[in-house]
Amino acid sequence: MMPQLRVYVPPHPLIKHWLAVARDAATPSVLFRSAITELGRWLTYEAAREWLPTLETMVQSPLDSCPATLINPEIPVAVVPILRAGLGLLEGAQTLLPLASIYHLGLVRDEETLQPACYLNKLPEKFDPQTRVLITDPMLATGGSIMTAMAELTQRGIDPTLARIVCVVAAPPALQKLSATYPGLIVYTATIDEIVNDKGYIVPGLGDAGDRIFGT
Ligand code: URA
Repeated sequence: MMPQLRVYVPPHPLIKHWLAVARDAATPSVLFRSAITELGRWLTYEAAREWLPTLETMVQSPLDSCPATLINPEIPVAVVPILRAGLGLLEGAQTLLPLASIYHLGLVRDEETLQPACYLNKLPEKFDPQTRVLITDPMLATGGSIMTAMAELTQRGIDPTLARIVCVVAAPPALQKLSATYPGLIVYTATIDEIVNDKGYIVPGLGDAGDRIFGT
């Protein structure tokens, strides 16, 4: 059977709380930034389940030796924030994945055509094929940016079944595109909103995530 795109909306009170704070148009930039950081933390926590590579070993406690599970340091873990707004989720993700390599990818959307253009690409030429990659982008709307990011990553050897996307609001156009091209991929999001308007904004969404994170 063909794998299907899986989209998880973890039913966690902290995720619901910080989503509500982020959605509120009255939330000032400083608090919006904290809300996105917290969402990055808790969604990464959920995404790390059955994704972070572990190894089985023995440890010696003060009283006896016992079996133990550690994070496997041999398998590379990468975080790819999609600039600008993906930077907002990075801090929370990094607190849980302190040893991950961070590769910035700067994509800007042409407001007329809604097509993404790449202005910064810090990805390596080739990834180790075992690399676990976590992509952060708060808003999956039309899917232009996330599809560009996935193409850049898979061209460089990333296995889409080892990739996780952490976002805040996902909408059907982006999810349908991801599903058609990367059926084994897994998305973690705080919510799914059904509507993308003709300017490419998710409704109700939370507005322009980058503008609200950076106050510009
Ligand atoms: N990017 C945003 O920041 N907000 C949206 O609603 C859609 C794309």
